[in-house]
Amino acid sequence: MSLLADWLLRHSVVMCLLLHSLVLMTFCFHHAATSCSKNCYCTESESGGKTVRCSNLQLTEIPQDIPNDTRRVYLDFNLLTTVPTNAFAGLTQLVELDLSHNELSELEPGAFRGLGSSLQFLDLSSNKLGNLTPDAFEGLRARANLTNNPWHCNCNLQMAMPRVDLEPASLTGVVCHTSEPEKIGVEGLAFLLAPDIDLCVEMKRTTDVAMLVVMFGWFTMVISYLVYYVRANQEDARRHLEYLKSLPSRQGKSEESSTISTVV
Ligand SMILES: *[C@@H]1O[C@H](CO)[C@@H](O)[C@H](O)[C@H]1NC(C)=O
Ligand SMILES: *[C@@H]1O[C@H](CO)[C@@H](O)[C@H](O)[C@H]1NC(C)=O
Repeated sequence: MSLLADWLLRHSVVMCLLLHSLVLMTFCFHHAATSCSKNCYCTESESGGKTVRCSNLQLTEIPQDIPNDTRRVYLDFNLLTTVPTNAFAGLTQLVELDLSHNELSELEPGAFRGLGSSLQFLDLSSNKLGNLTPDAFEGLRARANLTNNPWHCNCNLQMAMPRVDLEPASLTGVVCHTSEPEKIGVEGLAFLLAPDIDLCVEMKRTTDVAMLVVMFGWFTMVISYLVYYVRANQEDARRHLEYLKSLPSRQGKSEESSTISTVV
């Protein structure tokens, strides 16, 4: 009986130790796993640093648990619709960022804030971007792939181009899908490579015509009012005069008051 109890006790101690180490090991593995973003696949090379692959995961939001020593992030083939402000803040060693083949239609101001000194390549190709927002690329000198987006070429886009900090050649990827005005025929062209086209002149012309119409309208109103005013006054003065003439006694009074006002 005591032998059995002894056996049980000894083995339970062993079991307990085993269990304990198992728990510790699980904890360790779990800890290792959290140094990569959830669901993503991470690799580390001695020369190239950490790479985080989150491709084709149906992500609708940019993961916020990407380790801060990551050098390459692949978020291509997901369902991202926007890049919020400071989305990658803290990833001070990021060299390459792939956001291609998503549903991006918007980049918020400061979307790539904090990446200015490290990022060299940014892939935004095959998205839904229509207009260029310089505030999104503030301080970013990376080479960007902007091809395969439905760029809407208008005066806004033309004015935004020189304000974008990206490596200038990147802007050749802005191929117009639609344009404003439509008749200018810039569709299918890389906007930067069509230097004769000025989309703002057209807009200015339209604005000028509108201004002219408005000013003409005002002018007509003022003139009509003046004419009306003068006519009404003439009529009034004439009627007043006739009235005064018909009342000789009051005429004297009014002459009196006019002398007083002259004295005053
Ligand atoms: C990453 O974050 C840790 C802790 O938050 C910090 O100690 C470390 O310096 C950071 N590394 C970089 C490269 O920013
Ligand atoms: C830009 O992206 C398109 C489509 O994703 C790709 O075909 C092209 O090779 C890329 N260009 C560069 C310079 O990487």
